[in-house]
Parts: sequence; structure tokens; C-alpha cells
Amino acid sequence: MDKSNIQKDAPVGAAGQGVVHESAAKHVSGEAVYIDDMMAPQGTLHAYVGLSTIAHGVVSSMSLAAVRNAPGVIDVITRDDVPGIIDIGPVFPGDPLMVGLGDTVEFHGQVLFAVAATSYAEARRAVRLAKVEYTSLPACLSIEDGLAAESFVRPAHYQRRGDAQSALPKAPHRVQGELQIGGQEQMYLEGQVSLCVPEEDGGMLVYSSTQNPTEGQKLVAEVLGVDLHQVTVDTRRMGGAFGGKETHANQWACLAAILARRTGRAVKLRLARGDDMRATGKRHHFLSRYDVGFDHEGQIQALDLMLAGGCGMSPDLSDAIVDRAMFHSDNAYYLPDVAIAGLRVKTHTVSNTAFRGFGGPQGMVAIEDVIDAIARDRGLDPLDVRKRNLYSAKGNRNTTHYGQLVEQEVLPLLIERLEKTSDYRARRESIRAFNAENPVLRRGLALTPVKFGISFTVQHLNQAGALIHVYTDGSIQLNHGGTEMGQGLYTKVAQVVAEELQVDIEHIRCTATRTDKIPNTSPTAASSGSDINGMAALAAARKIRKRLTVFACEHFGVSEESVQFSRNRITVDDRIFSFAEFANLAYHQRISLSATGFYRTPKIHYDRETASGRPFYYFANGAAVSEVLVDTLTGEYRVERVDICHDVGNSLNPAIDIGQIEGGFVQGMGWLTSEELAWDDNGRLTTVGPATYKIPAIGDTPPIFNVELLPDSPNAEATIFRSKAVGEPPLMLAISVWSAIRDAVASLADYRVHPSLDTPATPERVLLACEALRAESR
Ligand code: MTE
Ligand code: HPA
Ligand code: MOS
Repeated sequence: MDKSNIQKDAPVGAAGQGVVHESAAKHVSGEAVYIDDMMAPQGTLHAYVGLSTIAHGVVSSMSLAAVRNAPGVIDVITRDDVPGIIDIGPVFPGDPLMVGLGDTVEFHGQVLFAVAATSYAEARRAVRLAKVEYTSLPACLSIEDGLAAESFVRPAHYQRRGDAQSALPKAPHRVQGELQIGGQEQMYLEGQVSLCVPEEDGGMLVYSSTQNPTEGQKLVAEVLGVDLHQVTVDTRRMGGAFGGKETHANQWACLAAILARRTGRAVKLRLARGDDMRATGKRHHFLSRYDVGFDHEGQIQALDLMLAGGCGMSPDLSDAIVDRAMFHSDNAYYLPDVAIAGLRVKTHTVSNTAFRGFGGPQGMVAIEDVIDAIARDRGLDPLDVRKRNLYSAKGNRNTTHYGQLVEQEVLPLLIERLEKTSDYRARRESIRAFNAENPVLRRGLALTPVKFGISFTVQHLNQAGALIHVYTDGSIQLNHGGTEMGQGLYTKVAQVVAEELQVDIEHIRCTATRTDKIPNTSPTAASSGSDINGMAALAAARKIRKRLTVFACEHFGVSEESVQFSRNRITVDDRIFSFAEFANLAYHQRISLSATGFYRTPKIHYDRETASGRPFYYFANGAAVSEVLVDTLTGEYRVERVDICHDVGNSLNPAIDIGQIEGGFVQGMGWLTSEELAWDDNGRLTTVGPATYKIPAIGDTPPIFNVELLPDSPNAEATIFRSKAVGEPPLMLAISVWSAIRDAVASLADYRVHPSLDTPATPERVLLACEALRAESR
């Protein structure tokens, strides 16, 4: 840990220190309590769901008699048993809680009914006894089919600058291409789970593994037909979420709540892994098509880009996700004349949802493919083409295609730095020499940048609340609207309070996120958790500090300057109190030691009519250099070395930030290389567990993995202690791995042909790309 920037008398755990995650020890010892580990109330029932076995068709008969009569079964519910609203679509309707007799099934794995039984095993055995018949309808399973049928979940959105169509033919060089970008399963370690406990007066206490307790509260209230004040959602932690619990946790909470209401008993619903993979949404797969015009040096002059996201059967968050793909289809590059179309394709598959990056990664992969294609066309090192196209205030090339100024220019220097620290140019030379001598094994190298917009693009979500209680022994309870999913949010927000109140972090306890403590919260998403909840907690802590200061002035008859907060102490002139003594004194003088805080992100707006504005408060930046070794006769490859420089502004916690960068990178690498989702011709997902769906294992960590936080780069905006969000951006650094693989393949045709390589770049696809290039250069 780098201690150089920590003040000498700072409290242990104040902002900027690399303190360990508040649950790290509990995570590794197994003591951290997840919902399935909780001491459930006496008589708790176990729920399970019956899922559809076709992708598209009408339910023509549904016999549940055998299910009802199965051992241990206490209750069975169908669509007809929902007391309130059936549709749980988070933004737009389209997600029925269950589909029943006469309804249309829209994907293989859709919930038809739910049971509650006295044990988990009995519930799971019972659901298999259902007899369901369907009248099948033709299913649309691919983006191409959806495009051909003009089947969309939402209208298209367009972003434009200048006139791409007339600029394209004028460009000295022009290339067209197409790319398939695969989806991704979130693979959180803890599957979706909810425990609902009925309370008096129609109340319901819901323990839910959710990134969005407030939305869970709203939907449980709606399906039950009660007011929001009757429902409380409690989320202490998730065993990973990665976007997969932003909206797709709600259904299980709603079903358990209905069963709990009907039986008067607590009900727990936990999905088994296979059903979790079948029934919950994934990262959107995309199809991109481009037409790009550029000059002799590879500088882009015009771009026409189509991004078609495979949304699955309902809108869910797809409007915002495809928007974010469009917002990031420039990545770090200035696009002079540009037209971007974002299409939301409907298919008869599970509704796709949030996944780290939220569409951004897909947009970036699309443009990085374009950049590599330009480099091959011009016979240039792709790094030089990237540098030539970077946003820059020079020549007024620093406004995005949606009108936001790139104010803080970080990437040119960051890339310069990484190019040196990674020894890029010398390695490029030696790799060329190696490849010239080796017909089969080929090395590839790529440096790719990331510029990621921070803020929810839906403006009203950019708000947060916090609640702080100081007790008479000086200990502090902290609560805020953000949820903990492993990313270290509780630790970072506690550090903010430690800093402001000048107390060691051990005196601060962050309690479970609850809708009765902080109301009307936003999902913990868009990487903005610490930005907005940290600011809300700071506001609450400031109120208490102010109150204590004013009290000290009045009580001791001094001026504000005489009151000092230092590590675990408050001094009033020459009187020295421990923080605890002073809190106790204030209590006895009837000073309130509890405060709420609120924050909303300033400056942001986006007008979808004109497709322009400032959707992001700021950008987080980074770059990675990856080197791979490819066996061009088998398509197998290894990632041999990765160097990363990432911009987190003034880090709130360098240890956690580096963990997020390493983890995000490896997760991105999995997405782009080994994680392949497959469906059969009937729309049934066939990759329903880790045996067939290959996430990176610890052995896939690059053997040389150098991660640096960009030094001396405070956020230009007044964020929490000038830090920058870190949750999602590093995932996209892994695009360098995919680009490096194509670099190795391109060596087979003397770097003159752009290898088309859809993602994930599995060994099979890499082999096909190698064979295509060998054929081309023959
Ligand atoms: N890190 C861990 N360990 N587990 C997670 O589920 N989710 C990611 C990222 N890092 C995730 C994670 C996603 S998708 C987001 S949006 C952010 O964390 C959310 O948290 P933050 O806003 O507090 O960074
Ligand atoms: N990111 C993540 N989640 C979201 C967003 C976003 O931009 N908008 C709505 N939900
Ligand atoms: Mo993260 S995809 O915004 O939950």
C-alpha cells in the first residue's frame, strides 16, 4: 500500500487509505451471511418455480394437480393468484410475473407457476410434476431474424453529427464490415434469492439479493396490491451481482411475497444455478455494421454505424443499455461526420439486462474493430491509428457525437505513459521478429484505451441518500442507499465518514441497505455507488460535525476556529475530549446526533429528441497493453502479459480500486474469449452451468499483470474527494486481449488483412480466422 499521500494524524481508514474490505475476513472464512445463510423464522417454507419448455407459443393446457398433491407442498400459485398488478417490467411493461393458461410464452424458461413446500427438495421435486401443453408459434432467435422481421422491443434511437452519407464517398479510403458480439452470463457466485417474512397489518419484510431495494419494494407492493410503506426490503450484501440483480432480482421477491402473504409463513425462493441461467437476463449480444472513411494516416473522417442489440423478449433496461452502447461507440475517438443507429431487437429468449458496462463494452468493441480494420488497410501500427484519432482540444477535436465536451484530457498522457512503462515499441519489434521466424506460434500485441461516461443516463437516478447516527459511546452507525455486492462500497462510504468526523473506521458500522432507512433510492449501478452515496454520507456527516461545532461554541463560549476535529478527538481551545466523550456531552445537552444527507449529481442532462447534451458528469479513463501467444494450427492461445494504467482520480481506496481493475479486466477477458452462450434450435439455453459455460479461473490470470493507478490525476469535477468511479470501466480494458489475438492472426497475412473475429474469440473461432487469413495470403 502506498502511504505517501496519507496525512500523519489521519484516522485509520480515512479516505485514500487502502484499508481492507469490511467483509474480507468474513468472505474468506465463510462467516459473511448471505440470505440463504440467514437464520430463517420458524416454519419458513421453500418456494420453487415451474418454467416453460418452449420459446414461443400459447399455453393450451396446464395441469397442476400432481404438483399440488406432491409431498410437502403447501401452496401453488399461477397468474390468477396475483392479488395486484401482474406486470413487473421495471421501466416499460412486458415482464409478466407468470404466464398462465391462454397466455403467450415468450422464452424457454419463463415462469408458469410457483410452489411453496416444507423443504427445498420437495419444492423442486413438485414442480417437475406439472403437465403443460402448448400451441407452438415460430420463434425468432437471432438478431438477424429479428431485424428481418422488424421485431423490436423499443423504437430505434439515432445520434448524428454532420453528414456521414455525403462525407463517406469523399474520404480517400473506405472500409465496410460487420461483427457479432456475444452476450455474457453474470455468473455471480450467489444465485438469485429472496426471503419474505409476513408482518402485521399487511406488511412484508423482504430480504432480497438485489442491487435495487427500492424497485423491489415498489414491485412487491404492486403485485400484493398494498402501499409502498407496507413493504420493507433489506439487503446486507450480495455474493456478486454485476448488473444481473439490477432488475432480475425482483421476480423472485414478488413470487415469494405472494406465497408468504397467502400462507402467513415466511417463504424463501432460491434459484438453482441452471434455472438461474435459464430464467434471468444476460449481457446483450450485439450485431454491428459499419462503413468508415479515413485519410492516408488512418484518421477517421466519416462513420456510419449500426448497433443492433439482442434484447430478448421484453424492454427491461434495453433502452438505456443500447443508448449506452451508442454513447460509447466513439470510445476515445473523435468522429467528425457520424451517424449511429441503435436498434433494440426483440427475440424469443430471456430478456437481456444490465451487465458491467451496460452496453458500453459492446459499443467500444464495435469501434475498436473499426480502428483495427483501418490500421490493417493502411499498414500502420494500430496504436498509431488510435493515438491519431484520440479526442484532443487541439483542432477542436474534443466534442463527442452527442455534444458533450471532453473537458479533462487524460488519455493522451496516460497512453504515452503506458506505452513507456509497458515497453510497447521494443516489444512490437521483437514480436515482429519472433513471428517472422515462427510459422505456427504467433505473438500479438495491442494497446486499447477506455473512456467511460460516469452517471446514469436516466437523469433522475443520479441521486442518493444517507443516514448517520452517533451514539453516546461515540460509535457510529451509517446507512445509505447503495448496496454491497463485493465492490467495497460499504468500506468506501465508511471511509468518507471516518474522514469527515475524524474517527477511526473501526468505530463506524455500515448497516444493511434498507428501504425503511433510506427511501426512494436508485439501483447501485452505473459505477456511481461511491460517487453518489459517498456524497450523501458526507452531507450527513457534515451536518453532525457542524452541530457539534456550533454546540461547542455555545457551550464553551468560543469561536468556530477553536473547535478542532483530529483523529478520534475533539479539541476546544485547550480542552481535549475523545470523540466519545464529546458525543456523550452533546447528548446530555440535548443535541441531535443523527442526520440524513442527500446528493444529486450536478450538470447532467440529455435530450433524446435532439440526441445531445451532457449525459455524463465526467469520464473515467484507462488503457491496457496485452500480449498473447497464439497456436495458429489449433487456435489455442495464452495471455502472457498485461499492463494497465487506470485513472481513478484521487483513489478513495487504492487496494479496493486495484481489485476492481484486476477483477473487471479478467471478467472482460472471459466475455471476449471463453464465455460462449449457446441455444439449441428450440431456443433452449444449453450452457446452463460452469461445465459448459467457461468463465476464467484463477489460472487464467495473466502471469505478468501490472496494474497502476494513474498518479496525480484528481477528478476535474468536484466528486467525493476528487475520486473517479471504478466499478465498470476496467472491464473494457480487456478489449486489448481480443485485439492482440487478431494482431497475432494478422501476422499470417503480413499485417495487411483485418482478421474478422467475432466475440467470444474461442479457440475454434481463432482457428477459423487463422485459416481464412492463410487462404487469403496464398
Ligand atoms: N465488483 C464485485 N466484486 N461484484 C459485483 O457484483 N458489480 C460491478 C462493479 N464491481 C460488481 C463489482 C458493477 S456492474 C457495478 S455497476 C459496480 O460494481 C457497482 O458498484 P459501485 O457503483 O459502488 O462501483
Ligand atoms: N447504468 C446502469 N444502470 C442503469 C443505467 C445506466 O446508465 N440507467 C438505468 N439503469
Ligand atoms: Mo452495473 S451493469 O451498472 O450494475
